[in-house]
Amino acid sequence: MYSRRHFLKLTGLLGLIPLAARGQIELPEEDNDQHAKSMVFPEDRIAFVQGATDAHSTLLSILVHKKTQPNIKIMDMFFQTVPFTAVRKNFGLDEDFVVYQIFLDGLRLGEDYAIMVSDPLYSDVKIRYFRTLDLNNKNTKIALLSCTNHRNAGPKSTMFRKLFRSQPDVIFYNGDLVYGNSSLDTYLNRPAKIQDAYKIYIKTLLEFELYSQKNLIPIFAAWDDHDLAYNNSDVTHPYKDFYLDLFRSIFSADSRVKAVSQGPGSSFSIEAFGLQIFFFDTRFFKNKKKEIFLGQNQLDWMKKELAKSALPKMLVLSQQLLYYSFIAESYERNARKEFNEFISAIKNLQQPTLFVTGDVHYSQIQHVSESLVGYKTYEITSSAMFSGSAGRFGKRKESDGQIAYYGYPNFVTLEQIKTDADSIEMHINCISEYSDKQFSKTIKVDI
Ligand SMILES: [Fe+2]
Repeated sequence: MYSRRHFLKLTGLLGLIPLAARGQIELPEEDNDQHAKSMVFPEDRIAFVQGATDAHSTLLSILVHKKTQPNIKIMDMFFQTVPFTAVRKNFGLDEDFVVYQIFLDGLRLGEDYAIMVSDPLYSDVKIRYFRTLDLNNKNTKIALLSCTNHRNAGPKSTMFRKLFRSQPDVIFYNGDLVYGNSSLDTYLNRPAKIQDAYKIYIKTLLEFELYSQKNLIPIFAAWDDHDLAYNNSDVTHPYKDFYLDLFRSIFSADSRVKAVSQGPGSSFSIEAFGLQIFFFDTRFFKNKKKEIFLGQNQLDWMKKELAKSALPKMLVLSQQLLYYSFIAESYERNARKEFNEFISAIKNLQQPTLFVTGDVHYSQIQHVSESLVGYKTYEITSSAMFSGSAGRFGKRKESDGQIAYYGYPNFVTLEQIKTDADSIEMHINCISEYSDKQFSKTIKVDI
């Protein structure tokens, strides 16, 4: 039997095969985005994403150039080939890069696996390592992040370095993973052209260190408007089905991974780390005019799922729960009646529930008063790993219940999670460009 070190070393030797010359691909002239125009994509690059994962199965996605016929091989620590299924996704576009979605089952918890993608055209082989995820382990460190904008990417490398150094077991990526629409699209209140948005997906995957790191980290993702390439988008988005397919082909979360219970749109729930965790879809059914936020189907699904588990709850929404500012979208602001229905479902449960949100380009821990759900709880907002910054805009007084705040590039970690039937306790650490403890608090929800 080989040790982990041995395994990494031996498989690593395969990566020493010399690289061929790199090619470059330019975006079409008509692309309206100045920044996007300057993008070049080396053809021999491959991006890797590990999506939803449980103890024995995982979903991986790779992005490769269309000219190549990738040879995918997966090995365990004994150099035994591991079977998998791979599907080349077809989005109906003439794309420079294509996505393969890979599913593996029957894996062993705690072991390393290597995925090798060889590319005969460029005589190259890329190797990445991955593991499955122990969902029963309460000692898990969750990195909670949102909003990674390639147009505001100054702190990108620093922030990803900080992310890797914080050694999370899993990432909860809460919306705006990809900024698919340009500022002009936002200004003109229109969706981006699908072809342009797809190029931004490629750029993001090829340029973000997160998707080229050696050791993959499972990502559980919810989406937000920029992932759909349409600022403040809702049910009227003409291409929303296309984006649902695209987003979930890359940031996978479906019930092939048995721990995942799929809901309407992109929503899903999992039981993990002593919690029942919901990742809601706040875009596919949202209707600003009709004051719909999650939509009745998703609400009904939530109520059914909530009743299935006695575990305390963590509810992940890409937009904020409470109405703090007239500028930001929020559940309370956009759909007051539906918000009341959502809150009473939580109140009726009498199980400790924590709210986790993103979107607003600041991070905070906000006290949610007893009058809302019958016990004191919190809304934890983690936003803008790198994008525009709210600065001091979202800062409120501690007497307003905001017990921690940071308005510049950051993400938070959720650590030392302790749960039982009546309580949730965890440590929340905010990591910025300048400090690994930008704020640091222990919270406890007690019913
Ligand atoms: Fe954002």
